[in-house]
Amino acid sequence: MKVLVIGGGGREHAVAKKLLSGESVDSVYCAPGNAGMKRDGITVVSIAQDNHDALIDLVKSEGIDWTFVGPEIPLFNGIVDDFQAAGLAIYGPTQAATQIEASKEFAKELMMKNDIPTGSYRSFDKYEEACRYVEEGPVPTVIKADGLAAGKGVVVAETKEEALAALKDMMCDEKFGSENTRVVIEEYLSGEEFSLMAFVSGEKVYPMVISQDHKRLLEGDKGLNTGGMGAYAPVAHIDESIIDQAVERILKPAAKGMVKNGTPFTGILYAGVMATNDGPKTIEFNARFGDPETQVLMNRLESDLGKAILAILNNEEPDLEWKTEGVSLGVVVAAAGYPASYKKQLPLNLPEENETLQLYFAGVTEKEGELVSDGGRIYLVEASADTIEEAQEVIYTALDSVNNPGCVYRKDIGHQAVKPQQIKSTAILNQHTL
Ligand code: AMP
Ligand code: GLY
Repeated sequence: MKVLVIGGGGREHAVAKKLLSGESVDSVYCAPGNAGMKRDGITVVSIAQDNHDALIDLVKSEGIDWTFVGPEIPLFNGIVDDFQAAGLAIYGPTQAATQIEASKEFAKELMMKNDIPTGSYRSFDKYEEACRYVEEGPVPTVIKADGLAAGKGVVVAETKEEALAALKDMMCDEKFGSENTRVVIEEYLSGEEFSLMAFVSGEKVYPMVISQDHKRLLEGDKGLNTGGMGAYAPVAHIDESIIDQAVERILKPAAKGMVKNGTPFTGILYAGVMATNDGPKTIEFNARFGDPETQVLMNRLESDLGKAILAILNNEEPDLEWKTEGVSLGVVVAAAGYPASYKKQLPLNLPEENETLQLYFAGVTEKEGELVSDGGRIYLVEASADTIEEAQEVIYTALDSVNNPGCVYRKDIGHQAVKPQQIKSTAILNQHTL
C-alpha cells in the first residue's frame, strides 16, 4: 500500500515513520515533508500543503491508496472535502468538522448542547461588554480569541489589568486581525493538564494512551508559550478512572454531538483536558494529532498504523494495541531565541539513533548534503525506557555528548512524572459547571 502524509514537521515525521514500519505499507510520501525524513526512507515531495490540486495529481499519478493529514491549516482549508470530491480516500475531518478546533465558540456550543464538562464561558463582540464582564468577575480568568491565532490567542490573566489588556489587544487593536475580534471569556480551571487523543469515525471513538506536553520555553514551565518543547506518554500518575471519565464524558459525547450537529467528525480528535477537583474538564479540542505528543505516542502503538487507518476508512474495526509497559519521552531541540527571532542554517551534530533513541525532524533543510536548521523547533529526541528517569538519562546523555552550537533544549521534560502525586478521581460523574 502507498500512503501520502501531508505536512512537514516532527508530528508528520513520526506518523510517516510509523506507517512505513507496518507490514501493510510499502511506501510513504510526505508533502512538503522535510529533508530529515529522507533518512528513514520516506519519499519527500516538494508540494505545498495548500496546493490541493497538485497533491491530488500526485496521488493519482503515483497510485497512492490513501492520504493522512497532519496539520490543522490544510484541514481548515478543506483539503479533505477536495480529495473526497476528487474520489480519493483521505483520513481527516471535513472543513465543517474542523470548526471544533477553528472556532472556540463552536466548540463551546457543542459542549453545552452535549453536556460535556468544561469551564463556564461567555462570548463577546462588544469591547465594553467584555470589559464589564471582566470587571465584575473573578480572577484568574481566561481570555481567548474566538478564531485562529496560531496558538497565541489564549491569555490566562492573573489580574483584572492583564485581562483588560488582553481584551484591548484582541478587540480594539485587532491583534489577530480585523475578522478575529470576537472573544470568549472562560472560567479558570486549575489542575493538571493532559492530552487525550482518539481515532474517530462518526460516533466511533478509539482512544489512545494519554500524554503531556510542555508548552513553555523554560524549565519549571516558565517563559513564553511555544509550539511544544517536549512530551511524554503514558501519564501514569493520572488515574485510569479519570481517563475513563474523560473518554465517556468528553470524547464520546463530542463525537456523537458532531454527528447530531450534521458535521460528523472523522480523523484524529484531540481533547486538552484539565484534571480538576470536580473531575476532567475540557480546555480545547483540536481536529488533528498534537505536536510533540505524536512523536512520543507513535512508539507506544504496537499495531500496524496503516492497517488500522485503512480499517477505519473502510468502516471496519481497527486493531489498535498499545504498549502497557514503560514510557516514551521526547525532548525538542530548538534554535536559541525561539519562539521570537532565531538563526537558521545552524550546523547540526546529531545524536546517534539506536533501538531506544530516535530522532524526529521538523525545522531542517539540506545544505551541501548535510542537514542544517531551517526553523525554530529543529528536531526531537525520543527515547523509550522503563521509567521517565531512565528515558531522561538516555536523551540527556546523548544530547550532552554532541555539541549543538546555537541550540537550546529543556532539561526537565517529564518532571511532572518524577515523584508525582497520584491524581485520583474525586468527581461526581454528572457534575459540571455549565
Ligand atoms: P488552548 O490554546 O485553548 O489550549 O490554551 C492554551 C493553554 O492555556 C492551555 O494549554 C492551558 O494551559 C491554558 N488554558 C486554556 N484554557 C484554560 C482554562 N479555562 N483554565 C486554565 N488554563 C487554561
Ligand atoms: N501540543 C498541543 C498541540 O498540538 O496543539
